[in-house]
Amino acid sequence: MHTAIISGVGPLEGLGAQLGVRFAKEGLHVLVAGRTEQKLDAVVAAIKAEGGSAEGVIADATDEAATEDLFARAGDQLELAIYNTGNNTPGRIIDMSADFFAESWRVCCFGGFLFGREAVKKFTERSRGGTLLFTGASASLRGRANFGAFNSSKGALRNLAQAMAKEYAEDGIHVGHVVVDGPIAGEKIKGRFPEYAEKLGEDGMINIGGIVDGFVYLYRQPQQAWTFELDVRTSKEKW
Ligand SMILES: NC(=O)c1ccc[n+]([C@@H]2O[C@H](COP(=O)([O-])OP(=O)(O)OC[C@H]3O[C@@H](n4cnc5c(N)ncnc54)[C@H](OP(=O)(O)O)[C@@H]3O)[C@@H](O)[C@H]2O)c1
Repeated sequence: MHTAIISGVGPLEGLGAQLGVRFAKEGLHVLVAGRTEQKLDAVVAAIKAEGGSAEGVIADATDEAATEDLFARAGDQLELAIYNTGNNTPGRIIDMSADFFAESWRVCCFGGFLFGREAVKKFTERSRGGTLLFTGASASLRGRANFGAFNSSKGALRNLAQAMAKEYAEDGIHVGHVVVDGPIAGEKIKGRFPEYAEKLGEDGMINIGGIVDGFVYLYRQPQQAWTFELDVRTSKEKW
């Protein structure tokens, strides 16, 4: 069975989890990776309840050995790898500790490097290519006051993805980047920032299913018509 790995899977009503649910419906065996067993169990149970195939893997994306182990579990049928991990890290530069800044970079960019490296190793091993996708944010494209750590690490991830797209195209590896330009209508915003979610309303937050559609579109593209980047935003977004 063809396999997908998704790094950065949390609550069921989150982007990582919903990528897992959709790609299981597309017929892939999905390895969902994150740091919290309980959340992964819920995602795996939801996938299995709909007849899909999945397993949860506890793996911190910034840990090299854990990332290598994650890819070792995928066997030789890996078709798709998605690096969705990436926490927002707001704060003014003047107040920011070096550790805070470095941790933002580790999660958003360094983890993407470890993940991308293991993915291309797997894809080139069996000479059949594959698809490697990264989740971006508004931060991937521009710097903004109070978000310097997140903007710089997401921007670096985007450049890494673009470099990999060019470096591995000849190996049949399609690398793509999805810019999620605005707040997602998921557990994170609704659960942690309910007042903000209410102020935005459903129309002011990006629909998760719509974002997932973008990933499926990239995954399904023929080798003669590859897109590197998609951006997704609501009609209300000021950009
Ligand atoms: N949420 C938004 O509004 C929004 C907007 C634009 C772009 N994005 C981008 O969309 C992606 C995911 O969005 P999301 O944050 O909303 O959450 P999500 O897809 O629902 O879940 C991502 C999960 O990744 C896990 N994670 C965090 N650090 C990790 C690490 N070091 N190793 C492995 N797993 C880790 C977290 O779960 P555990 O803590 O349980 O490990 C988190 O719940 C990110 O790339 C983000 O930058 C989000």
